[in-house]
Amino acid sequence: MATKRFHLGWFMNFTPDEWRLPYGSGGRFWDGRFYIEMAQALERACFDYIMIEDKLMVPETYGGSRDYTLQNAMIAPKHDPAPLATAMGMATSRLGVVATLSTLSYPPFLLARLSSTIDSLTGGRFGWNIVTSAEDLAAQNFSLPRLPDRELRYEMASEYMEVVNKLFASWDTDAVVLDRERGIYADSSKVRAIDHVGKHYQVRGPLNTVPSPQGRPVYVQAGASPRGRDFAAAHADSIISIMPGPAAMKDFRDDIRARAARLGRDPDTIKVLFCITPTLGETAAEAHEKYQRELSSPQFVADTLACISAITEIDFAEFALDEPLPRKLTTNGESGSLDKFQQWGSGKTLRQLALDDGGGLVSSVELIGTPDQVAERMGEVMAEVGGDGFLITTPVMRMSRRYIVEITDWLVPALQRRGLARTAYAHEKLRDHLLEF
Ligand SMILES: Cc1cc2nc3c(=O)[nH]c(=O)nc-3n(C[C@H](O)[C@H](O)[C@H](O)COP(=O)(O)O)c2cc1C
Repeated sequence: MATKRFHLGWFMNFTPDEWRLPYGSGGRFWDGRFYIEMAQALERACFDYIMIEDKLMVPETYGGSRDYTLQNAMIAPKHDPAPLATAMGMATSRLGVVATLSTLSYPPFLLARLSSTIDSLTGGRFGWNIVTSAEDLAAQNFSLPRLPDRELRYEMASEYMEVVNKLFASWDTDAVVLDRERGIYADSSKVRAIDHVGKHYQVRGPLNTVPSPQGRPVYVQAGASPRGRDFAAAHADSIISIMPGPAAMKDFRDDIRARAARLGRDPDTIKVLFCITPTLGETAAEAHEKYQRELSSPQFVADTLACISAITEIDFAEFALDEPLPRKLTTNGESGSLDKFQQWGSGKTLRQLALDDGGGLVSSVELIGTPDQVAERMGEVMAEVGGDGFLITTPVMRMSRRYIVEITDWLVPALQRRGLARTAYAHEKLRDHLLEF
């Protein structure tokens, strides 16, 4: 059987790199240089894209205050992904750069204009991770008393997509004629108002940017609920997901593809990437030892609980660590993450749940070993799932130059030797990378 290549992305946060361990610094992340050099390393390894996560608040749920967050640089500080994506894109020539922008915070016109501009600045390599936000604390930074309910958020997001798609189409691709002899820059008959009047948005248009190289950014989405999956299947070029193991990964991908087909889309135009956090060592024993050391570090459980508290707005500091959760918890925030975390009915203690979840040692499959062992396993898992790739996800306590090099210079060559990862880019634009195989 011919070996099937798969896509590679990396999901990171514009926060300080690891600063509590001997090899981290955490310093000067804000000038972007650490992450620009990271993007260059990923381009050397022929990744499809680097994706910058985002949240729009300083969490204060865990322990009922901002203390843990700020003292440990967990989730805050967090800088704006759009300028970083631009800087990364302008310091590379092939790598896709994806920024998370929330439909809650950007008016659709501004988002379309910003995306179009970054797509032009990067020569057609911009992607937008579409999120609807998940926290009351974020909503309160945007003149709302609380976060709208999930159904309403998705209803608004659907109309939002209608508006931005109309805006991206408000200029014909050949509207810029640059005809010096006739004195015409843009042919005004090829630029139209959109006159959108809907339930949630009224936007006149047209966009005031020229058509960008990709026409519109690549759409990335992470819907997990039934409503979220329908939204992702309707719009996304790439879907990112965390699923517990190959069988669940396969079910998720099959489900997305079926939903897309029902909507009249070709499922092969949607690339599902699954989060993984491989732990690599020069020997298998070294990799396992490293993994155990991380799990048993003093901050590990608290870091995990602070993260899950922030995205669910449930204070996990209120529950006893060595007892099971007293009741099944629900949230209007990231319910998929909550359900995955709480493993309701498992009888596990909160500490065990935190260790299982792993503070962002977020992995759809356990990958611990030498680069060759991990590459081999990744190939087996992809064959079982059917496609389309993996999203390296940097856990809370691992973002360091050392980890980047382990992936780009240890793991990726092992994948390439097996014919599982590309060895050279065939195209220049992000959408073309995704459609290459
Ligand atoms: C890999 C991954 C990355 C995500 N990144 C963000 C993010 O940067 N910002 C954000 O507000 N939500 C983020 N989310 C949350 C999703 O946008 C979505 O709300 C979540 O997966 C729950 O899906 P649902 O809305 O269908 O319940 C992410 C989810 C996943 C799985």
